[in-house]
This record gives sequence, C-alpha cells and structure tokens, in this order.
Amino acid sequence: MDITEVTLKNGQKATLQMVRPEDKNLFLEGFSHLSEETKRQRFLGPKKELSPKELDFYSSPDDYNHIAYSVCIREPKAQGLGVARLVRLTKDGPTAELGILIVDKYQGQGIGSILMEAIIKRAKEVGIKNITGLMNNTNTPMIGLLKKFKIFEFQSAGEGLIEIKGTISI
Ligand SMILES: CC(C)(COP(=O)(O)OP(=O)(O)OC[C@H]1O[C@@H](n2cnc3c(N)ncnc32)[C@H](O)[C@@H]1OP(=O)(O)O)[C@@H](O)C(=O)NCCC(=O)NCCS
Repeated sequence: MDITEVTLKNGQKATLQMVRPEDKNLFLEGFSHLSEETKRQRFLGPKKELSPKELDFYSSPDDYNHIAYSVCIREPKAQGLGVARLVRLTKDGPTAELGILIVDKYQGQGIGSILMEAIIKRAKEVGIKNITGLMNNTNTPMIGLLKKFKIFEFQSAGEGLIEIKGTISI
C-alpha cells in the first residue's frame, strides 16, 4: 500500500500506511501513553509492556498472512495514532483474527473507521474470507465501529466477552 493522506474528524491531516519494522519506536512510545482502560479493552486484561518478541511480531507484517496498517502524524513529531491488524489463524487460511487500537487522545476521530476500511479492502484482495475476534461486551465504541461495516455478527462468548464474526464477500 502507498502512503495515503487522510483527514481526521477534527480536520487534522494524518497518513495511512502499512506498518514497517522501522516503526518499533512509534509502537513503544504510543504504548507507554495508553490508559489502563484502552489496554484492557485491546488485550482483554492487564498489559504492562510489550515483550521484544511481541514487538518484533507486531511490527513485521507480510501484508498477506499478517496485514497491519497504521495512522500516523509526522509533525510536530512522529506519532503513531492507531493500528489495525488481521492475522490469519493458519498460514494462507481463510480466517484472520482482528486487532485494533487507537491511542486515547485520538479515539473518536474516525481513525478506527479509516483503518477498518483499509484492512477489509486488503483482506478481500488476499482472499481472507472470515474475520474473527473477541471483545468485551462493554466495548460500545468497538461495537459501533464494527456495525458501520455491516459484515459483522456478534455472539456471546460468556464471561463478559463477545465473539466477532465477519464475513467478507468478494
Ligand atoms: C474501539 C476503537 C478501535 C474505535 O476506534 P475510533 O477511532 O475511536 O472509532 P471512530 O472514531 O472511527 O468511530 C467509529 C464508530 O464507533 C462508534 N464510537 C466511537 N466512539 C464512540 C464512543 N465513545 N461511544 C459510542 N460509540 C462510539 C461510533 O458508532 C462511530 O461511528 P461514527 O463515526 O459514525 O460516529 C477505539 O476506540 C479503541 O482503540 N479503543 C480501545 C481499544 C479497543 O477497544 N480495541 C478493540 C478491541 S476488540
């Protein structure tokens, strides 16, 4: 994917691009400012830090089995605002797991929508048929975000969790 300029709801310009190994510092910086609530919603439990192994994995998508796009700003200093990813459950398989996180200060600015649109488009291109994931049933913004795309169904998974099932038609 080429770097694309996007406009947030507040009018601010940002860029949309594929995640690259050079972005590790942006990940670490962004992670260090996340609220406990945002981490709890994304990781479904407490998350103190990213291990070097996790960091390597998160920052080296191949855009086929692992799709990951970010929205960033470059000025006044480089900052990652959000990332969405799809990781196939099995190599070349039809089903991929969804992960998405927007930094607290930029939630509600349309970044989740921009990222979901980009990863769903790429999923279609590379033949991913199903999107799966788990989320807290209290995560109203995530439910609102997914409902916009009209391809997702929600099923209770017990213990306060909801299973997400997305179907991608070609
Ligand atoms: C959930 C999350 C990804 C949404 O991304 P976002 O950039 O904040 O969402 P957007 O601004 O694109 O909003 C998309 C839709 O979500 C819903 N939404 C967003 N913020 C909301 C809020 N505070 N309350 C209710 N609905 C909300 C709306 O329906 C909105 O639609 P609209 O654009 O037509 O108003 C983001 O808030 C986040 O990272 N949360 C913490 C981590 C997390 O929950 N990850 C998902 C784990 S499964």
